[in-house]
Amino acid sequence: MLSHTYDYRTTLETSQRVNWKLEDVIEGRSLDFARPFLPESLAGVNGIRCLTAAEKLKLNQIRGFTYLYLFGLVEEYILPAVIEHAEGSVHGDDYEMRALLRFAEEEAKHIQLFKWFVREFERGFGTPCGAIGPAKAIAAAILNHSRLGVFLATLHIEWFTQKHYLESVKDNAAERLDPLFCSLLKHHWLEESQHAKLDTLIVDKIASALEPAKVEEGIDDYMDIGKILDSGLGAQVQLDLESLQNAIGRTLSAAEKAEITQAQTKAYRWTFLSSGMTHPNFDKSLRELSARGHERVGELARAIA
Ligand SMILES: [Fe+2]
Ligand SMILES: [Fe+2]
Repeated sequence: MLSHTYDYRTTLETSQRVNWKLEDVIEGRSLDFARPFLPESLAGVNGIRCLTAAEKLKLNQIRGFTYLYLFGLVEEYILPAVIEHAEGSVHGDDYEMRALLRFAEEEAKHIQLFKWFVREFERGFGTPCGAIGPAKAIAAAILNHSRLGVFLATLHIEWFTQKHYLESVKDNAAERLDPLFCSLLKHHWLEESQHAKLDTLIVDKIASALEPAKVEEGIDDYMDIGKILDSGLGAQVQLDLESLQNAIGRTLSAAEKAEITQAQTKAYRWTFLSSGMTHPNFDKSLRELSARGHERVGELARAIA
């Protein structure tokens, strides 16, 4: 159904070549709180008029914290989905099984990496930061959809991970981002490159076994999962306002909160929704699955832009 050049054996070989040990990435490392964490193209803090430069730096770091926290959170649903899919492939192609098991192992490692980051951030930031959850409940809500919907959401996430690193972090000397934060994104990106290919193979396999009406239902489910994420992001923006007030030691006025909410809703939606929906590779796969579904997702992407 989908046109691509990926196969399990090559993906497995690349995964073995780029694989890294968690200890090598985190041991003896710490965050530099004098620097921004997240590139401005994702953080969207510089245009906020009611904040000083020092306050914008705090908000940038809060956004860096939630960026990796939210990755850890979505990977809590990706991991069981991949394990379940692998179970269905037992006694099948050997390379497929090994590639899927590595995919699951890497996501388990990423969850551990992001938990370490959250602890390290909380230790150094100085004031508490709220985050949506619990991860288990959000994962259950996402997994309560068809497998096509779940893996389209995963394909969307893994492609935007690529886009964020390649376009905003790699070779970005101008913003002087924290080196450890960049290193975490780099290591994550190295393994996610294979996941995006595996997701394409998984979506292709699932969709190939479905009638056109079920494919449309899967695309509906993908859009429903997008709405779950969007409502989570809305709640996260409000938690970030509290975190920011704690960090800068002043109460924001209603007008200031409205300005920050507007800017941050836009930035969160771009980061976690639009940048996936509009990724050329995701867009291509969706168009090949269903011209109508592709059109419907395009309308949703325009509505939240
Ligand atoms: Fe990951
Ligand atoms: Fe992944």
